[in-house]
Order: sequence, then C-alpha cells, then structure tokens
Amino acid sequence: MVITDHAGKAGFCRDWMGDVISDAVAVLRPRNTAEVSMAVLACRDLGLSIIPQGGNTGLVLGGIPDHPSNQVILSLERMNRIRSIDIDDFSAVVDAGCVLATVKDAVAEQGMIFPLALGAQGSCQIGGNVSTNAGGLNVLRYGMTRDLVLGLEVVLPNGKVLEGLSSLRKDNRGIDLKQLFIGAEGMLGIVTGVSIKLMPAPDQIETALLGVGSLEAAVALYRRARRDCCDLMSAFEFMPPMALILAKEAMPDLDMPIAMDYPAYVLMEISASGLVDVGDLMQRFLTNVMEEGHVIDGVIASSSTQASNLWKIREGMVEGQALRGRHMRTDISVPLSRLSDFVAVAEEAVRAKLPECVAISYGHVGDGNVHLNVLPPMDASEADRTKQIDYAKKIVNEVVDMFQGSISAEHGIGRLKRDDFELRLQNTQRLLLHTLKNAIDPLQMFNPNSQISIAERDDASSV
Ligand code: FAD
Ligand code: LAC
Ligand code: ZN
Repeated sequence: MVITDHAGKAGFCRDWMGDVISDAVAVLRPRNTAEVSMAVLACRDLGLSIIPQGGNTGLVLGGIPDHPSNQVILSLERMNRIRSIDIDDFSAVVDAGCVLATVKDAVAEQGMIFPLALGAQGSCQIGGNVSTNAGGLNVLRYGMTRDLVLGLEVVLPNGKVLEGLSSLRKDNRGIDLKQLFIGAEGMLGIVTGVSIKLMPAPDQIETALLGVGSLEAAVALYRRARRDCCDLMSAFEFMPPMALILAKEAMPDLDMPIAMDYPAYVLMEISASGLVDVGDLMQRFLTNVMEEGHVIDGVIASSSTQASNLWKIREGMVEGQALRGRHMRTDISVPLSRLSDFVAVAEEAVRAKLPECVAISYGHVGDGNVHLNVLPPMDASEADRTKQIDYAKKIVNEVVDMFQGSISAEHGIGRLKRDDFELRLQNTQRLLLHTLKNAIDPLQMFNPNSQISIAERDDASSV
C-alpha cells in the first residue's frame, strides 16, 4: 500500500506536462474507503499533510507536492471498481479511482453514455474529474462534471466518511453538501465514490470539420447551429490553422481531409438516439450555411473511423504544443458575445510584446472558453522560456480582467494559478473560503496551499 522508494514515487511526483518534478515522503495507495480513512488518521498522528491524486493529468499543479518533506500523495488508483450500473435508473456508482474511459466503456456495454469527454480520458479518474469539476468537449449539451454528479462519498480530514451516494435527481433537503467537494481540488475532502448520471447512448453521431472565415464567423455559426440543430449539438470546437500543423507534428501519419490554410476551423458534432434523422439534419444544416457563405468548405465523416480521425486533429494539437517545449497555457472564459474581440485583443497584445513567440487560441467556443496559449521559440533557453511565459501570462491576464473573464474556466486553480486567483478575490469571497477550509480542515492537512494559501484564522462573523 505504501511506496517510499525514489523510483516508485517518481511517476506520481511529476506533472503531466513534465514542467515540474517534485517528491513526497511516500505514496499511499489504499484499496477502499476504510483504508483511506485509516491513512488520513495515520497522517494526522504523524503531522503529515495529504495531496490526493487521481490520474495526475491536471494542468495546474494541484496533485503534486510543493513541500515534499512533510507531504504524502494519496493515490486513488487502486480504488477502481465499478460498484453498480442501473440502466433503469439512468445512473451508476463507481469508485473515485476509476479511469474515465473505463467508466465510459463499461456503461457503453449497456447501451448508455457518461457524457464527460476530454483528451485525458484514458488516464484521468472520476474522482479527479469531480475534484476539478472538469469540462471538456460536450459541456455545451451535458454541462460540466457538476451537472453529471448525483452523489458523493467523501473522506473528511477527521477520517469520518460523508456517505452520500444517492441517485436521487431531485432532493432539496437543505444545503446540498456534495457541492462543497465538487471543484474543491482535494482541499476539503478525499472523494472515494461517485454516483453519476447516465444517458441513453446516441446511435447516430454526425461529425464535421468545417473551414470558416474567422473566429467571429465560428461564433456566428455556433449561434445558428444552436437554433437549427434542435439541441442535438454535442460538440463545437474551434481551432486555428496552426492547430493542424501542430497535430501533424505530433502525428505525422494523420490524414488531413481538408485544406490546411483556411483562416479558422470548427469541429462540430450532432448526435441523438431514437426517432430523429441526424444525418439528414447535418446535411440540411450544412447545405444552408454553405449556401449563405457562413462556411467556406467542410467534410462530414462517413464512418466512425473517419470521425475519430477528425477528433485526432483536436487531440494531436494539444500533444503538438507539448512537443514544442514548456509554454504558457491558459483556460479563459468570457461571455460568448465578447469571445472573438477578446481573442483579437489578447493575441495582438502578445504579438506586440512577444513577437518571437506564437500565440494559439482554440477551444470550446460554445462555452465561451478559449485556451489562448503562448509557445516560446523551440530553441529558447530555459531561462528565456520562463521569462516569456511569465510575461505572456501577465499580458493575457490583463486582457482577461479588461473583459471581466475567468482565469480558469475548467482546469481549476491548483498551485499554478493560486496567486493570480487570490489577487482577484473579493474580500468576502476570500474570507468565506478560509472560513470553510478552517471549519472542515482545521489542521490544514488536505492539499495545503492549493487553491488558497494556508488559511488565516478568520472570524466567521466577519464574513
Ligand atoms: P489529478 O490531476 O490527479 O488531480 C487534480 C486535482 O484534483 C488535484 O488538486 C488533486 O489533489 C485533486 N484530486 C484528484 N483526485 C481526487 C480525489 N479522489 N479526491 C479529492 N481530490 C482529488 N480538463 C478539462 O476540464 N477539460 C478538458 O478538455 C481537458 N483536456 C485535457 C487534455 C489533456 C491532454 C490533459 C493532459 C488534461 C486535460 N484536462 C482537461 C485537465 C485534466 O484532465 C482534468 O483536470 C481532470 O479532471 C483531472 O483528473 P485527474 O484524475 O487526472 O486528477
Ligand atoms: C483542451 C484542454 C487542454 O481543451 O482543456 O484541449
Ligand atoms: Zn479545454
């Protein structure tokens, strides 16, 4: 259950991008909820704090230690049991350490979907998804993780278990306590079990890659699709032409079924089960928008293999950025009506002040969520990279503030964004967060210094 040797700990102690390498006193790998409780009590007695870890795919350094000499990692990886699937109730209960793709596969065998979908789904865990309130590719139709959770089982810092694995869809018996732990990034409790919503699996899925004139045109197309596609749109992703180049760099054998030099691209999916004709809907929608000049060119996947090939472009572009070395990643949301203005202003600011870097904006247009990343030149020294990343973050965050946007739409705060988050907190928000942390985790044992700095002993009455 306990790993203490350096080689064994190494994989748990580096972040997914390989930007940061840390260490820990030990890695604990409990097999069930009772063992998690025991581990928590043992750490309390030893004066150690605990960093809960799921699939370690988080992008904000929330799951790896920052003070290795008194922190242990508690990995949920051995808690990977699908506890039950109830297709009549459209729900399932799973251990928090289940890998997201495993859950999706298990429910698919019974004709259902769990619609959370993200590039890291082959490694991230449901408990990590809950703790970061993950978003991803299908939020515009199904919501964030918060919208897909029916109940939680959570081990608290005093070792006690909050048993809340209900599958009730409506339950207004007072404050909904599970919400405290969704998006809390492990600072209030360790999620050990999750009750999730399922939906009937769509048996018709239409996927199209479209070339459009600009991000503004993509947003206009999205609005049109919301009206025309009967709420059946399940994804609408925006990519600039650079995305196709990056995807090719990561996957040289990838087929590019469309010219690579349109000003912008949209990857769109419509899906449904039942008595509608989704193929006909996609055809008619695209015929209209092409005739009206909203779309320059497009391909519709004619098989599931072709569809997954289109999605590989979206996945490959993320990998391609990683291959270009350490870079500045953002996860911004602004109101949809201001998205294209935001990207134009922020990219221009980066171009003017860091002309040697490449700014690339892509993401979940329908959610007003863009990843505006800045890639230093490939041959930049580590010192120059650090300077460029810090400066790029400052430039972009100033524009986010100007547009009253969020510096974290879906990835969370972790340690990477803590200072920027705290800087933007209103006093009342900060006091309320500290009051919650102090009340639930008075010894500051769970994920200290992630999301918020070690809490001051604020008087609750001053909130
Ligand atoms: P970890 O990285 O292990 O942990 C994340 C945080 O949650 C940490 O603070 C950790 O302490 C805490 N935590 C983990 N498990 C538990 C638990 N059981 N109880 C309490 N706290 C816990 N995110 C999106 O939202 N949308 C995307 O589209 C998206 N795409 C991605 C694509 C790639 C290629 C990669 C690498 C990441 C992507 N992510 C995305 C980010 C990441 O996958 C998500 O944040 C995911 O939800 C993290 O899950 P995890 O199991 O890996 O958590
Ligand atoms: C994406 C991740 C990085 O959308 O959030 O690719
Ligand atoms: Zn994203």
